[in-house]
Order: sequence, then C-alpha cells, then structure tokens
Amino acid sequence: MSNQIKKYPIIEVNNLKTWFPIKRGVLSRTVGYIRAVDIAGLYINRGETLGLVGESGCGKTTFGRTLSGLEKPRTGEMFFYGKNILDLSRRELRELRKKMQIIFQDPLSSLNPRMNVLDIVTEGLAEFGKIEGTREDHAKRLMNEVGLDNDAIYRYPHEFSGGQRQRINIARAIALRPDFIICDEPVSALDVSVQAQVINLLMDLRDTYNLSYLFISHDLSVVSAISNRVAVMYLGRIVESGLTGDVINNSKHPYTKALINAVPEPGHYQKERIVLKGEMPSPSAPPSGCMFHTRCPEVMEICRKQEPKETMSGIHQVWCHLY
Ligand SMILES: Nc1ncnc2c1ncn2[C@@H]1O[C@H](COP(=O)(O)OP(=O)(O)OP(=O)(O)O)[C@@H](O)[C@H]1O
Ligand SMILES: [Mg+2]
Repeated sequence: MSNQIKKYPIIEVNNLKTWFPIKRGVLSRTVGYIRAVDIAGLYINRGETLGLVGESGCGKTTFGRTLSGLEKPRTGEMFFYGKNILDLSRRELRELRKKMQIIFQDPLSSLNPRMNVLDIVTEGLAEFGKIEGTREDHAKRLMNEVGLDNDAIYRYPHEFSGGQRQRINIARAIALRPDFIICDEPVSALDVSVQAQVINLLMDLRDTYNLSYLFISHDLSVVSAISNRVAVMYLGRIVESGLTGDVINNSKHPYTKALINAVPEPGHYQKERIVLKGEMPSPSAPPSGCMFHTRCPEVMEICRKQEPKETMSGIHQVWCHLY
C-alpha cells in the first residue's frame, strides 16, 4: 500500500523556502523577510494522504500555494511525478493544472457568486475541451459523485449550505480527474456534524480515483481521521513526521505532544495538560537554534544554539535535540 516509506512519490520537495519581503518607506525597500516556509524535505506517495498540521500562521497555506504555483519559492525544488515544477514550460504548467487541484477553506468565497453551479463545475472542462456529452450531463454526473441533486446545477452558490458549497468545490476539483488535490482546511468552516460527511466524501473519492491528498488543517483530530501520514509544522518547518498512528500515539517532539494535549477529550478532565507557553515567534525573526526552544517545556542549552537535525531513520522522523 501507499502508506510506506518514500516509494512512488507524486510530490517531493527539497530545501523549499517561500519568503515574503517586508517593505518599508517611500522607496518600499525590503527590510526583512517573513520566512513562511522552510522545508528541508517532504514527499507524498501516490494514493497517499499526507496531513499537514500546525498552529495558525505556521505556513501551511503558503506551502500549499507554493506547491500549486500560486506563490513562487525563493529557493528549492518541487517535483511532481519526478519533474521539477519550477522548470516546466508554460504548456507543461497548463497540463499540470489538470493533474493538481486545490480546495480552499472558505467554500463561499472560493465560488464565483455570479456563476451557477453548471458553469462553475464545467469551466475547467470546457477550457481543456474535456466535456463528455452535453455540459449539463457532465455537470449532473459530477453532482452525483459529490452527493448533490441533479438540479443543483441550475442554482447559485448562495443558495446552498456550507457543506453543500464545499461539495461543489470538490466537484470542481475532481472534474478534470486530477491525481493530486491540496485540501486547505476544507472542513474548518463547517459544523462538526457536516465535517464528517465531507471527510467521508473525500475518502470515498480518494479510493475511487486513487487520489493523493495534501490535507491541511490546524485540527489534529480532523487530520488524523483522513491521513496515512502526518507532518507537523512549526514556524515554516517540519518538526515531526510519520505514520498517523505513530505521530499521534507515540509522538516524539514536544510540540507535537503539546498539540495532542490541546485536543480536548470528551469526558476527561486533563490534569497534566502541557500548555504551550507564549505566542508563536514572528516568522520574520525566527529564534536561533531550534525554532521551538522559546516555548519548549524541555528546552536544553544546545537548543538555543544549534538547529536540530533529523533523527530516527525510516518513516518516523523528528527534528529535536532530545533524540
Ligand atoms: N501574501 C503574503 N504576504 C506576506 N506575508 C504572508 C502572506 N501570506 C502569508 N503570509 C505570512 O506567512 C506566514 C504563514 O502564513 P500562512 O497563511 O501560510 O499560515 P497558515 O499555517 O496557513 O495559517 P492559518 O492556520 O491561519 O491558515 C504568516 O506569518 C503570514 O502572516
Ligand atoms: Mg491557512
């Protein structure tokens, strides 16, 4: 199966940095950088779901946008089926659009309010000349796939509930039969009861079409429900990654442990909650040594000075001086 060590990566990134310049003054000179993403290495196997979890502002969305070409990295390599995305010609990039899609957090603002569902879900198909039968027929088939009624295609985004709108977004994303979908907080704006339905739909589609997902969320319980593997991000870096069960039940990094502790367990009073001290430092002035040392309950002298290297070979990896 797919949930193994790097085998048939659909996505692979090396040394990827996405920084945003901070500009000041009338000449808008660059006075510094927001170091949103700094990933040494990450891969996603074909058919695999990699969950990416971390606090707000840690760089999850920026990573997803970089992968899909919406942000330009400062340095690094990003491979899709072994081809460096940054080296692709314009025509090849257009082809990539078919194979890689993105679903955003806010289902309403990502849908054009003036287009009906028919036009929304078939727009990409029409652009690439991929409509099978009539446009209506094709749109209705997509509605069936995402669990909406056929006549939904004649309605407009504001006429739907949040969960239904996210189904429309999903229909649009799968229309061109992609291999890889970046799901950026796809259920965070939805009620808990609806979240499970949308996650189930994503899992069904994954099985039907052997899709690979990058599933981004700040909510560890949502991420663990759908992911084969999980990567934990802090200040733009991956601090731990591994099979979902290992990362959740046998977490190594103090930051991962703190995230797990922050998930309330129903019916349990948590006595020994590790509470994260302080705020996440600014990504424009990241701490020296280990990025997490300013908030780490287990901080040691070396953590302030030296950046931790990856330890533990194989699939469970952690970047921490404790190991
Ligand atoms: N276009 C931009 N210009 C400047 N800074 C940006 C831009 N986009 C993001 N940032 C900054 O980059 C950092 C990472 O932001 P990002 O949105 O990727 O985080 P996130 O993990 O997705 O957070 P959230 O959970 O709130 O969605 C933040 O400090 C953010 O302010
Ligand atoms: Mg985000």
